[in-house]
Amino acid sequence: MRRKVTVVGAGMTGGTIAQRLAETGYIDVVMIDIIEGLPQGKALDLAQSAPVIGFDARIIGTNDWKETAGSDVVVVTSGVPRKPGMTREELLNTNAAIVRDVCQRAIEHSPDAIFVMFANPMDAMCHVAKEVTGLPRWRIVGQGGMLDSARYRTFIAWEVGCSVEDVHAYVLGGHTEATMVPIVSTAMVAGIPLAHLLPKERIEAVVQRTRQGGAEIVSLLKTGSAFYAPAAATQAMVEAILLDKKRILPCCAYLEGEYGITGAFTGVPVRLGAGGVEAIYEAPLTLDELEGLRRAADAVKELVALVR
Ligand code: LAC
Repeated sequence: MRRKVTVVGAGMTGGTIAQRLAETGYIDVVMIDIIEGLPQGKALDLAQSAPVIGFDARIIGTNDWKETAGSDVVVVTSGVPRKPGMTREELLNTNAAIVRDVCQRAIEHSPDAIFVMFANPMDAMCHVAKEVTGLPRWRIVGQGGMLDSARYRTFIAWEVGCSVEDVHAYVLGGHTEATMVPIVSTAMVAGIPLAHLLPKERIEAVVQRTRQGGAEIVSLLKTGSAFYAPAAATQAMVEAILLDKKRILPCCAYLEGEYGITGAFTGVPVRLGAGGVEAIYEAPLTLDELEGLRRAADAVKELVALVR
């Protein structure tokens, strides 16, 4: 049986996520946006790629929430992207209003859905989603750590000169330049500690480029932000849920005591399966890294306090 996923926002990110999900063949996708014609046009185009690619998933583009009814997963990408020089935090209140509205409507029509949040500032938007939907913490997960970790792994692979597939490295903490915590202590290439392969200053350069990963792309694109890697990251999370894969992925989850953090969405390793966030793992971290995570949590709390 095919599953149903609603993608809220039919911009570059939403459209690319819809494509990746539809191409799995087992996911019917509803793309919804307030802009009339945009989701419809993208859905029609995507549907017409099906005979060539070879999938039978239904793709609907709509402005009507009724069409989203009964979704298994709702992916929220809506909100305005950053402009060059703008921080994710500056987007706060514009996007909070949008996210509040879409989450309210989404939950009305899909009361059993798991929410994957990818509107910026993502960590704070998870709080907004939790507040308006009243959902338990295991049904809201933020996409940020997957993307930042993918960037980290890419830069490590380039630096080491090896396949990206052999790099296991995680970015925890927040999805902002200042609050993300690229974990160096346990970063591995084929089981070999990163510190064994690269000199300290090269590792520092990789960490720095990872932090700036989103901004680097924003400044190159001039309009809009990254969407290929965000879409790939989101697909991995949605598939982990729908296929009950129980993948352990760096995602933003609501912490209730883990890592000494309470009441804040923070990026940590979580087990994603049919139940959503099924478990939160406490990785062994250095004191610095742990403090970084706690600072990230404090920063989110401060940001959430500014949401009007
Ligand atoms: C990024 C934005 C989309 O990191 O959050 O590219």
